[in-house]
Amino acid sequence: MTTYNKQDIFDLYDLMLEQLRDLYDGELQQIKFLESQSEIAESFELNELLTFHLRETKRHAQRIKEVFEKLNENPKGENCDGIKGLIKESQKLVDRCINEEVRDAALITAIQHINHYEMAGYGTSIAYAKTLERHDIAELLLETLREEKRADMGLSDLAKNQINPDAKWSAIVNKVSTPTPTEIK
Ligand SMILES: [Fe+2]
Repeated sequence: MTTYNKQDIFDLYDLMLEQLRDLYDGELQQIKFLESQSEIAESFELNELLTFHLRETKRHAQRIKEVFEKLNENPKGENCDGIKGLIKESQKLVDRCINEEVRDAALITAIQHINHYEMAGYGTSIAYAKTLERHDIAELLLETLREEKRADMGLSDLAKNQINPDAKWSAIVNKVSTPTPTEIK
């Protein structure tokens, strides 16, 4: 006789729950990360966008909770190592930028990496929910996926139109000279 562990994933429903718990933990981690980054951007527009994204991310976590209520299940139980790794990478990247404008560009790429990870998770979970004929859940998750995509497009537009060009010229504007090899430790 096969014995099962509590952690075992038996069917598509279990797999959907695992994906959703992973997303829930990921959203909570992202809230903490965005809170730690709020008001640090040099660009006013980027700060505005990050504040808006933080509000949306809180709503995403709340929406997953709603999904779990509908399923009569607990949203807790998974640690999202994917987002944890991406946040760690992001923090390292942002901390290494010595020019504020370049740091803004790095912050955008960091958040877009996290968003793309989330979009994959939401897309998959929506497909599972549809297969399981839980269209009510698919609909809720689709709202979040749409918001993730809109946020991603907003960040891309801001990067292309303002942040990246500013980063390109920042060393000249800030009169920061390129360090000589002896200055680099
Ligand atoms: Fe989100």
